[in-house]
Amino acid sequence: MKDTLVVYYSYSRNSKKVVLEVQKKLDADILELEPKIPFSEDYDAVVEEWQNNELKRDVEIKDIGIDLSHYSKLVLITCTWWYGISPVMKKFLKEYDLSGKDVLVASSNAGWIGHSFKDYQDLLPNSTIKGELNLVFSANDGEQDKIITTDAEIDEWIAKIM
Ligand SMILES: Cc1cc2nc3c(=O)[nH]c(=O)nc-3n(C[C@H](O)[C@H](O)[C@H](O)COP(=O)(O)O)c2cc1C
Repeated sequence: MKDTLVVYYSYSRNSKKVVLEVQKKLDADILELEPKIPFSEDYDAVVEEWQNNELKRDVEIKDIGIDLSHYSKLVLITCTWWYGISPVMKKFLKEYDLSGKDVLVASSNAGWIGHSFKDYQDLLPNSTIKGELNLVFSANDGEQDKIITTDAEIDEWIAKIM
């Protein structure tokens, strides 16, 4: 049984690439969060909806189907939506108790991470956040899947939980 779990939500698959690298390096289990009702595959439609979503509506997520009490360490990775962590990750942190666990957090973004780390801090009041990673991808048209954050920065972040 492994003691580390990587939990992630990645809408357009940028974060997922880093998730797989982190999982391998930490020899961790992995959990992908999924919204109960999938978001549209039309990227622009999703951006439009969330930019105009004043209420920042709650998103229901599928049952995770695993017992989190087995893990003492969690690595949380999500995309940034509208200057904060994704509604999917928010819902996970509201529904599941991570008290007493050591946690690494990351929010992938195109240069505007906003209040994502504060979101994590607010939703993890009884966990120890060991490291925060600003996971930056290009904001240039046609290059949004190009990673800017270096492997060395990712390794330095991972080392904080090893
Ligand atoms: C609905 C939506 C909102 C976004 N809001 C932000 C934002 O506030 N700041 C930012 O830098 N990037 C924003 N982005 C871009 C993504 O955060 C960025 O491309 C990220 O790397 C995507 O990760 P993923 O492929 O794992 O979903 C947004 C993207 C979407 C779809």
